[in-house]
Amino acid sequence: MRARIVATGSAVPRRILRNSDLERMVATSGEWIVGRTGIRERRVVDDGVASSDLGTDAARAALAASGWDPADLDLILVATCTPDMPLPSTACLIQRNLKASRAIAFDLAAACSGFLYGLSVADLYVRSGTCRRVLLVGTEVMSSVLDWTDRSTCILFGDGAGAALLDPSDDDRGILSTHLHSDGDLWDLVCVPGGGSRMPASDAMLAGRHQYVKMKGSETFKVAVKTLEATAREALEANKLAVADVDLFIPHQANVRIIQAVMERLGLPENRLFLNIDRYGNTSAASIPLALDEAVRSGRISPGSRILMVAFGSGLTWASAVVKW
Ligand code: UT7
Repeated sequence: MRARIVATGSAVPRRILRNSDLERMVATSGEWIVGRTGIRERRVVDDGVASSDLGTDAARAALAASGWDPADLDLILVATCTPDMPLPSTACLIQRNLKASRAIAFDLAAACSGFLYGLSVADLYVRSGTCRRVLLVGTEVMSSVLDWTDRSTCILFGDGAGAALLDPSDDDRGILSTHLHSDGDLWDLVCVPGGGSRMPASDAMLAGRHQYVKMKGSETFKVAVKTLEATAREALEANKLAVADVDLFIPHQANVRIIQAVMERLGLPENRLFLNIDRYGNTSAASIPLALDEAVRSGRISPGSRILMVAFGSGLTWASAVVKW
């Protein structure tokens, strides 16, 4: 039995960082940022707030929507590239916050593709009969790994979290397919080189600002368009669906120009797109579940809707999922 998404939730920090604020921090302009990326503002946490805090809030919103008791959860999966700390996993911290004492909990690292990787893992756990009730969270405090003096990266990202609850489907609805891809040869397109075992924390590491996101922007842009188009076509073909059968397209929200280029190549009309990058920027693993939750709550998704989700991110990783709601 395939898994289905029972409920969604999301959480974003209250603090808004507008393009006009960034104009005072680095040599940029609101016009440049909106024109090149589609981003108008993003959310940023207050000091002391970590990924497990946002993830817990998103999970609580999903639990409230479903009526599930946290004690019924079998598995908690957390997709994040900004864990609270190297050890323990952010999933264990969320498990503790929720008092989900029966659940096994672990993190999954696939950067911006993390939520779709997690959807695939959740679906396989449910299909195998190993777990019945799964909480999947994508949560990020990207502001903790941004170099606020680097205009080419700090304008792009934001903080947030999204969550989904899954259980076995008893009809033809649910996760129809997931397709995952990785190419480690492209590891340095987007990376945080310092702070791990290759370059542990040290004065020299901090002085070199290696603890922050480094990105080859225009190369990443080109690879993103190519891989997203390919994985969308692969997903449609596997489900014998035409582009016209897609009711809602939820791409990873990294750059509106990437999304428009992919839609143009696929021939997807604009009214099928769910876009919220203007308000949140790129929230990495939180981007798709945050958009999914907003789409559900705003009535863009109804029973029977066919949703195509695609993502790409550091790794390089890329992925798709087709869900019948
Ligand atoms: O989840 C995966 C994460 N990564 C991505 O998805 C990123 C994908 N890439 C992109 O979104 C785009 O490549 C960017 C938005 C990062 C950059 O846009 P671009 O059209 O590719 O610009 P560019 O990198 O080719 O830079 C054009 C110019 C450069 O100046 P010069 O060398 O032509 O004089 C940059 O220095 O724009 C300059 N620039 C800026 N100017 C004003 C770069 N950042 C800024 C900025 N404000 N914030």
